Amino acid sequence: EKGNFDHFMLKEINEQPKTILDSLRGRLNAEQGYITLSGLDKIEEKLRQAHRIVIVACGTSWHAGLIGEYLIEELCRLNVEVEYASEFRYRNPIISPQDVIIAISQSGETADTLVALENAKKQGATIFGIVNVVGSSIARITDAGAYTHAGPEIGVASTKAFTAQVAVLQLFALKLAQLRGTVDPAFFRQLLHELEAVPAKVAWILDTQVEAIRTIARRYKEADNFLYLGRGYNFPIALEGALKLKEITYIHAEGYPAAEMKHGPIALVDEKLPVVFVATKDVYHEKIVSNIQEINARKGKVVAVVSEGDETVNDLAEAVMVVPQAHEIVAPLLSVIPLQLLAYYIGVERGLDVDKPRNLAKSVTVE
Ligand code: F6R
Repeated sequence: EKGNFDHFMLKEINEQPKTILDSLRGRLNAEQGYITLSGLDKIEEKLRQAHRIVIVACGTSWHAGLIGEYLIEELCRLNVEVEYASEFRYRNPIISPQDVIIAISQSGETADTLVALENAKKQGATIFGIVNVVGSSIARITDAGAYTHAGPEIGVASTKAFTAQVAVLQLFALKLAQLRGTVDPAFFRQLLHELEAVPAKVAWILDTQVEAIRTIARRYKEADNFLYLGRGYNFPIALEGALKLKEITYIHAEGYPAAEMKHGPIALVDEKLPVVFVATKDVYHEKIVSNIQEINARKGKVVAVVSEGDETVNDLAEAVMVVPQAHEIVAPLLSVIPLQLLAYYIGVERGLDVDKPRNLAKSVTVE
């Protein structure tokens, strides 16, 4: 079943050009300039009148939710909150029938997410599901939804399910922005083309970056700690990169918004600490370059995800992983790929069971 791959995790990472395409297929038509998302049509009136959107999820799916927040806020000019399901279910949150809840779950069986949704439903909220497993408990409790179509995910750490979740959130935000009239039509079309180009760009990363990433993995495999930093749409990717590393390699890692570093984490920086920057070419680029200089000045080891053709960071970093240029709105679908591979190869270098990390289960059906 693993085909030519040593592990399911590597197979699933490599499936992403196809799985992202599968989550866009039949929904995105860049040529004609439209998105079809029948689940969204089903609750269109609710969405038009919604006062806010609340995204509920756990773990990696929660990271996808954070990207969803940035997308929906920017494109749809709508209030969005992103909640850890375990907190949301217990703290007696204020929920009204004008709220639309987006539930994100690969398995569709995460207990905390399911109960959070049951509670919200009792209070009249409308629920939209972004779920991978068809017919799962979470899929069944939703009022409408869009399946991620990533196929079965066997590796315990979520990889292809995450990029499928982000791809569906892109479609959702763009379609809703069009309905609400909050996106310029030319920009809308540009983003559809950007999104359509993602699968081939992911394939390029997988074809060209593996050797560089393996070298980085060998170099830093003995580190005790890692810091992951990013800004904007790449901040959730920093969190996700750190989570993948923790799960797969048992190395302690923290993700932060890059500028937050000065408010505490910078105290950790010494000549032993690898700091992974997601430093792709976007509106934050100049700011992140100055964050990199601050780490350099404290002798931290900088590893960076950079955009193809951008040499700014090369002299400041010990090593770089390159991703194709892309609009910052779709960029997280690219910048997460090298971080998945980095966690995978460090795990392999450390001789660990990357498909079944200790203490973890594929779906968390107990609270
Ligand atoms: C991380 C991971 C977990 C899940 C979380 C939610 O690699 O897999 O953090 O993302 O347990 O699971 P789902 O998406 O099935 O609700």
